[in-house]
Amino acid sequence: MPEPGLEKPVSMETATPEQHVTMDEITALAKRRGFIFQSSEIYGGINGFYDYGPLGAVLKRNVKNAWWHDTVELRDDVVAFDSSIIMHPLTWKASGHIDAFHDRMVDCKTCKHRFRYDHLTDTSQCPDCGTKDSLTEPRNFNLMMRTSIGPAEDTASVAYLRPETAQGIFVNFKNVYQSARKRPPFGIAQIGKSFRNEITPGNFTFRIREFEQAELEYFVPDDGRDMDAFAEWVDRRKDWYASYGVRPERLRFYELTAQERPHYAKAGIDVEYYFPWGWGELESIAHRGTYDLDAHMRLSGKDLRFFDEASKAHYTPLLIESSAGMDRTTLTFLIDAYEREKSVDPNGKETERTVLRFHPAIAPVQVAVFSLARNKPDLVEKARGIEAALRVRHRTQYDEGNIGQLYRRQDEIGTPYCVTVDYESLDDNTVTVRERDSMRQERISADALARMFGERL
Ligand code: GAP
Repeated sequence: MPEPGLEKPVSMETATPEQHVTMDEITALAKRRGFIFQSSEIYGGINGFYDYGPLGAVLKRNVKNAWWHDTVELRDDVVAFDSSIIMHPLTWKASGHIDAFHDRMVDCKTCKHRFRYDHLTDTSQCPDCGTKDSLTEPRNFNLMMRTSIGPAEDTASVAYLRPETAQGIFVNFKNVYQSARKRPPFGIAQIGKSFRNEITPGNFTFRIREFEQAELEYFVPDDGRDMDAFAEWVDRRKDWYASYGVRPERLRFYELTAQERPHYAKAGIDVEYYFPWGWGELESIAHRGTYDLDAHMRLSGKDLRFFDEASKAHYTPLLIESSAGMDRTTLTFLIDAYEREKSVDPNGKETERTVLRFHPAIAPVQVAVFSLARNKPDLVEKARGIEAALRVRHRTQYDEGNIGQLYRRQDEIGTPYCVTVDYESLDDNTVTVRERDSMRQERISADALARMFGERL
């Protein structure tokens, strides 16, 4: 778990990368095109909760798949896991969450607004209404969400929604290494929902109360090579962000100082992105030593150590953790892909376009197929046929009508390729393929599409 209260405030760096997009533009696009909606909007919304629309759900799934592919599927030393959201309450006693997972909060006695104490730069006056000496003394506020199990709502039935997925892995460490026949170094990975009763949710889906984490817990022997394993995972995560095209100048790997790290951690890196409001954390990578397994062994009385057949000795492996927020990463891909630029429409007129330059593996739609006219059955049938054939291998969409509007819509949702079926297509079986970023168009045979997209996507 993170050291409570030690989360760094979102910092405003002096060396600022370029960031033109505003959060208003992102939230408006997200709503207009069906990426992200405020949860329960018809009832006025609920603070800190969001829903993913038809495109957003696919976008987020692609982000998770990209993480899963690199962290689990491409490794022979990482196994998959999926633990329950509600665990035995003693889990959270051992992990320290019950006693220490708080943020400090203060209230303004004048305007009644609530703030996280560590987010305030000046505590002498309220940052919202400006009243001097109006803030209460800071109080601890536990961030875990409580629920109750069974028909009686008494203290015996109290349970918690997990604030991180990692503990499900730690308590199962022995089950996993024995059943999967793994020996350190090896990792256990899972993606799942976590819940935190954040005092001040905000910045769209950056700080929310229900979110998804992708966590890798990598266990290594204490043989002097643990820092190499740490460095290898940091490099791998750097490569991951780079391979999906996140702009390098908006990404930084901040090395935590000994004062910023929990006392038991030997090393820590925060992966940060430059959001429209400044730097914000996407992921934390930490060397946590034996802290987590030790804590569960102490409270449960169960031996979770690894038995090394070669030396016939038990030992507690060291832990390297990489913990990434999937909602924050999805938001990052959305912001990073966003551009407004001048362009020329098919009639030669200068216009402005909004384009999301998603990596093809991340784009919710990869190929859009259009019929130039709505009411021409031959065209519609041909275009639908092409779309249906491409759908087997790619994420596709069929549409029809005004070509300028169709391109504009697909640019806004980040579709890398559009294919247009027109009257000529009926004669010679050729179609126009238009590429999103360059807006270059080429005329090719419809029979060549499968192969072309197979290579390019
Ligand atoms: N097991 C380690 C752990 O949970 P953390 O730094 O507290 O570490 C890891 O969380 C990641 O989870 C963060 O870097 C962030 O991406 C995501 N996360 C944490 N709290 C969040 C919140 N309230 N809303 C969205 N994402 C959050």
